[in-house]
Amino acid sequence: MIRKELRLHFSEVDDVRSLPEDEQHLVELAREMCSNAYAPYSAFYVGAAIILENGEIVTGSNQENGAYPSGLCAERVAAFAASSIFPGVAMTKIAVSARSNRVKVEDPVSPCGACRQVLFEYENTQKAPMKMLLSKEDGKVVIIEKIQDLLPLSFTGNGLKRI
Ligand code: THU
Repeated sequence: MIRKELRLHFSEVDDVRSLPEDEQHLVELAREMCSNAYAPYSAFYVGAAIILENGEIVTGSNQENGAYPSGLCAERVAAFAASSIFPGVAMTKIAVSARSNRVKVEDPVSPCGACRQVLFEYENTQKAPMKMLLSKEDGKVVIIEKIQDLLPLSFTGNGLKRI
């Protein structure tokens, strides 16, 4: 048996103002987008903003539904919108933020497994990293260099392609 090890390297800044201007802007947009969430059930408001290779920015927010599983996270709302408005254009960076008026959000929001899978497939297809900037309404920003880092040993769907 061979023991293998996976390591995750990521960065943090204490304040959004320590980031380059384009990333600052993206994080601020994600923070603003929390206000567009439709989250009457969880009262957890999430915003996402994606910048594409062509310079366009597409945003999203979580959209819930009384039939709970029918809702969608902010990250997937933004990524699906980006891919349908600009098909095939690489998604370079995604910022995600969250706030709540029901609970105290202590840490930067971190994407759920389903969102990691969806974002990973776009990253894998575009053959270029999609950087992630995770935050809450204020304070530190966690920087993940590529989605793959959040989904080690990921399922690529390659096995599903016809030969
Ligand atoms: N949610 C997101 O939109 N993104 C995340 O990264 C975590 C969770 C949403 C789903 C649901 O509407 C609410 O937050 C509570 O889980």
